[in-house]
Amino acid sequence: MIYLLLLVGGGLVAQASAACSRAMLEEATAAYVRAQAAGQPSLLPLAQTVTYLENDVSMDLAKGVLAQPVTIDFNRSLHDTTQCATFTELSAATNKHPYVIDTRLLFTDGKITAIESLVADAGDWVFNAANQLSWTKKEKWDVIPEGKRDSRAVIQAAGDAYLDSWTNGSVKVPYGTPCARLEGGSYTGDKSPSANTCKMPVFPGNFKIVKRRYVIDEEVGGLDIFNDFPFIDTTKPNGTSSMNFIRVEGGMIRYIHETTICATKNCGR
Ligand SMILES: *[C@@H]1O[C@H](CO)[C@@H](O)[C@H](O)[C@H]1NC(C)=O
Ligand SMILES: *[C@@H]1O[C@H](CO)[C@@H](O)[C@H](O)[C@H]1NC(C)=O
Ligand SMILES: *[C@@H]1O[C@H](CO)[C@@H](O)[C@H](O)[C@H]1NC(C)=O
Repeated sequence: MIYLLLLVGGGLVAQASAACSRAMLEEATAAYVRAQAAGQPSLLPLAQTVTYLENDVSMDLAKGVLAQPVTIDFNRSLHDTTQCATFTELSAATNKHPYVIDTRLLFTDGKITAIESLVADAGDWVFNAANQLSWTKKEKWDVIPEGKRDSRAVIQAAGDAYLDSWTNGSVKVPYGTPCARLEGGSYTGDKSPSANTCKMPVFPGNFKIVKRRYVIDEEVGGLDIFNDFPFIDTTKPNGTSSMNFIRVEGGMIRYIHETTICATKNCGR
C-alpha cells in the first residue's frame, strides 16, 4: 500500500514538473509581454479562475493595467521551475503614461492561477522611468555557466540578508564589488566599479519586512522578493507594496532593483 502510494506520488511529481518546464515558463513570460503590449489579458494561458492583484489590491483583470496597451521598451524575466512561477520587469518609459511594472505569475498545470503586479508611475518612490530604462538596459544579467551557479538557498539568503539588514545592523549582507542598486530611477552604479556599493543605512524604528514572496531562477542568479515595506510611506506605517529584484553572482549581490508604491507623492518624503 505504501509502495503504491509512493508510486502514485512519484507519478504526480513527475507530471507536475513536466507541466512546469522552463520552456513553458519562457513561453508564458513572452506571452505576458505581448499581452501587456496589446492590452489583452486573453493572450495569456489563464486558468478558469485567476486572482489578480495590482499593488496588493484585488482587481478585475479587465479593469487593470494589463487591459491597457502599453509601449514596452525593455523587459527582463525570471523563471522558477521549482515553484512554477515567473517574474517579469517591464520598463515602459516611452509609453504616453510612463510605467515600471513588476509582475509575478503563478501556475498550476501549465495555466496561470495568480497574477500580482506592482504598477509604478509618477509619484511612486523616486520614480523616473527614463532613468530606470537607461540603467536597466546597461546591466548584464546573462546566463551563469552551470558549474558556477548558486543554489536556491544561497540566492534567497542573500536577498533575505539584504532586507533584514535594513533594521538590523548586525546582519552581514553578501554585497559584491561592484554592486549597483536601481531604486525607482536612482542608481548607485554610475561610479567607478570599486566605488559602487549597495550598502543601506539602518532605518530608524523596529519593523520587519513581511509577506515576502519569492521567485528564484538559478540560471541567472535571479531573485525577486515582493514584500510589505513599513516605515517608508508615512501614510502606511504597516507597510506599502514593494519589491526587490536581485542578481547574485558567486554568492554575492551584483544588482538590486527596487520598486516601491507610494500612496502620496514620493511616500510623503
Ligand atoms: C522582451 O525581452 C526579450 C528577451 O530579451 C526580447 O527578445 C523582446 O524583444 C523583448 N520585448 C520587448 C517588447 O521589448
Ligand atoms: C540581528 O542579526 C543578528 C545576526 O544575524 C542576529 O543574531 C540577531 O538575532 C538579529 N536581531 C534581531 C532583533 O533580529
Ligand atoms: C496598523 O496595524 C495595527 C495593528 O494591527 C492597527 O491597529 C492599525 O490600525 C494599523 N494602521 C493602519 C494605518 O493601517
